[in-house]
Amino acid sequence: MWSHRIHDLILALALALLAPLTLQAQGSTAPAAGTAPAADARAATGGAQTLEDILARQRGERIDDAFRRNAIGSPEAAQPPSAPLGTLGGASDPELWRALRYDEAELTSSVPGDVAKVVIQDGGMRWLEWRRGPLPKYGGYMLLGMIALLVLFYLLRGKIRLDGEKTGRTVLRFRAIERIAHWSMAIPFILLAITGLSLLFGRQYLIPVFGKETYALLAAGGKYVHNYIAWWFMAGLVLSFFLWVWKNFPERADIGWLLRAGGLLSRGVHPPAGKFNAGEKIIFWIVIWFGAGISLTGLSLEFPFEIRIFSSIFWFLNNLGIPQMLGFDELRTALTPQEEMQFAQLTHAAIAFVFMTVIIAHIYLGSVGMEGALDAMTSGKVDVQWAKEHHSLWYEELVAKGGGGDQPASDGARSNSTTRAG
Ligand code: HEM
Repeated sequence: MWSHRIHDLILALALALLAPLTLQAQGSTAPAAGTAPAADARAATGGAQTLEDILARQRGERIDDAFRRNAIGSPEAAQPPSAPLGTLGGASDPELWRALRYDEAELTSSVPGDVAKVVIQDGGMRWLEWRRGPLPKYGGYMLLGMIALLVLFYLLRGKIRLDGEKTGRTVLRFRAIERIAHWSMAIPFILLAITGLSLLFGRQYLIPVFGKETYALLAAGGKYVHNYIAWWFMAGLVLSFFLWVWKNFPERADIGWLLRAGGLLSRGVHPPAGKFNAGEKIIFWIVIWFGAGISLTGLSLEFPFEIRIFSSIFWFLNNLGIPQMLGFDELRTALTPQEEMQFAQLTHAAIAFVFMTVIIAHIYLGSVGMEGALDAMTSGKVDVQWAKEHHSLWYEELVAKGGGGDQPASDGARSNSTTRAG
């Protein structure tokens, strides 16, 4: 009994003596205020994050989390349970949770594939914040900004009219197959834009108007339209590419056209241009590249987890040294399947916003903005005066080939009067 009391007393005294030493040791490793946490600062927190780490994360700074990412135990180096001092695993519970958090844990799942093996995926939150934050905000500003610019342009410049008199004679500008290709991009693009925008903005703007029930129907229908119509757009894109790529390589005349802004800003100015002017060539290449990008990311979304593109794209960019050149770290190439989908969705929508912004300007110039332009894509024929003013080099080529739309279009000899498109 007494011996127990003496033992407890000695223990209490020893603890009382050691306590200041322990506190002093901890105090000596604490980082000075405002400095980055030293490696041994984390030793003071038992390897966990420090206050500095937490504050840095709250300031939105990236911290090197290798101290956590790599602290996931070592099951393969563990002593078997039968060996002396054998363990039951080689990874403690915190180490196991960290391994799950960083997608490093060896898991088995009854669901085939690697998707179900990702238990914690914190990228989902970042994706959600982008999807409901900067993406619709800046995308929306961009679309509205372009519409405002076009209204301003219309008010200042008005409709771009022919300077000369219409001749009544026409030349064939686009063959039927070219018009089919064009409208096979245009009609689905507009349907895709409407359904895509209503999926992104619906919660904010459509539910208050239509109510949840009706919006649910609209959204489900919109999703089907979006998914199926996309194939029509892709077919139109491929067809347009093969029909028009030959006429869209840069030429000497393009420089003069660009320097004079295509004559769009002033009356009576008509820089020479071939079948497509420099502005149209730029639109063409935007349509092709953005069309390819939107199709690829769209396919990845349409077949979830089956088409993964971003790890390869990031690998490729790293090898070209592009992120490094821009002052970023190398991009992560080990992406979870969920992250692939998150990148696909954000990129798809970002491309769509820029694409729509450009196409709104194109639609304006191709319809109400310029007299006679729409004829080229409806009947396929344009007035000779229009051809001379807007595409003089192309018209000269037609004349040199023996065409030129010399008969009036209305005299019944249409096959003679309408020159073949070049
Ligand atoms: C209502 C919508 C649209 C209208 C009224 C329209 C009108 C036109 C017109 C009149 C042309 C011929 C211009 C010329 O003769 O030089 C044209 C060409 C073209 N359109 Fe459209 N378009 C529309 C939508 C689209 C869409 C959605 C796309 C692609 C996503 C597109 C891509 C093109 C391309 C690549 C060309 C050839 C290059 C160029 O002229 O810029 N168009 N469009």
